[in-house]
Amino acid sequence: MRRRAAQRRPGDAARPGGPADQHRLPRPPRRRPGPPPRHPRPRPPADRRPLLVTLAPSALAAPGTIFTERGLQPHPVPRALETAEVPSVIEEFARAARAAVEAGLDGVELHAAGGYLPHQFLDPSSNRRTDAYGGSAAARARFVVEAAEAMAAAIGGERVGIRVSPAANLHGAVEDDPAETAATYRALLDGIAPLGLACLHTIGDPAGPLLAGPRARFGGPVIVNDGWHAMTDEPTARRRVASGQADLVSAGRAFIANPDLVRRRREHAPIAEPDPATFYGGGARGYNGHSARPE
Ligand SMILES: Cc1cc2nc3c(=O)[nH]c(=O)nc-3n(C[C@H](O)[C@H](O)[C@H](O)COP(=O)(O)O)c2cc1C
Repeated sequence: MRRRAAQRRPGDAARPGGPADQHRLPRPPRRRPGPPPRHPRPRPPADRRPLLVTLAPSALAAPGTIFTERGLQPHPVPRALETAEVPSVIEEFARAARAAVEAGLDGVELHAAGGYLPHQFLDPSSNRRTDAYGGSAAARARFVVEAAEAMAAAIGGERVGIRVSPAANLHGAVEDDPAETAATYRALLDGIAPLGLACLHTIGDPAGPLLAGPRARFGGPVIVNDGWHAMTDEPTARRRVASGQADLVSAGRAFIANPDLVRRRREHAPIAEPDPATFYGGGARGYNGHSARPE
C-alpha cells in the first residue's frame, strides 16, 4: 500500500526535508519560573484499577487463560453486545481507521482472525446470537462485512486489508464444522468483494479447502501465513508465491528477532532466532534486545 506523497507521517518533522524544514515553527515562548512541576500520581496496583467491560457476541467466556499484568488469568465472562449497540462498535472500527490514516499510516488491517471480536462473530462456538448477527452463515458474516464497509467508506477500500484464520482454532474460536465454516467465509468473501479491499491476509494452509476457495472469491492480492507450526522461512515463502498460492507471504516471529529482516533476506545474511519464552512476556525483553546488522 502506497501513501500519498503529500501525506504526513509520524517522524516527518524530524527528517531532513520533512515539513518542519519547509515551514519552520516559531520558537515556543520561554517559560516563566513557576511552581515546581507536579509529579504524576502513582498508578494504583493492577488489581485496584477500574475494570473495563469485556464485550462479545455472546456471554461466553473463552476457554483457558489470558496474559495480564497479574500473570495468566481465566478469561472473564463477557457481556453480550445488544443489537442496538453493534453500529457504534462498527463505527469504532471506522474511527480507528480514519485516525490511523490521519496519523500518517498507509492503511489498516481489519483483524477478523485469531479469536478477536470480529472473528468471534464469524465462529458459531462464540456467536450464539439469534438476531441479525447470528444464527446463519450470512448473519455471522454480517458484523465483519459491515465493519469492512464502514472502514472502506472512511478511508477507501484500497487502504483496508482483512485478516482471517478459518478453523485455525485460536483462543477459543473453534470452527469445527467444515461445511458451516466454509459457508460463513463464502458469505464473508461475497460481502466484501464489492469493496475493492487492498488485500486478504490468511492464516492456515493456503492450499487447503477453507482458504483456496476464499482466495479465488476475493479476486485481489492475497497475503498468506502458514500459521504457528513452523516459522515462516524463505524457501516456503518462495514456494507459496511460485505456485500461485500467494501474492505475498507475511512473517511474524522472524521479525521479532530481526528488525532488519527484509535486508537480511535480501543480502542472504544470517537470521537471528527469536526466543519464544519472551513472547507475550508483558515487557520489552525479547523484543527490544535485537539490533539491526550494521549497513
Ligand atoms: C508474540 C506474537 C504475537 C502475535 N499476535 C498476533 C495477533 O495479535 N494477531 C494475529 O493474527 N497474529 C498474531 N501473531 C501471529 C503472527 O501474525 C503469525 O501468524 C505467526 O507468528 C506465524 O507466522 P511466523 O511463522 O512467520 O511466525 C502473533 C505472533 C507472535 C509471535
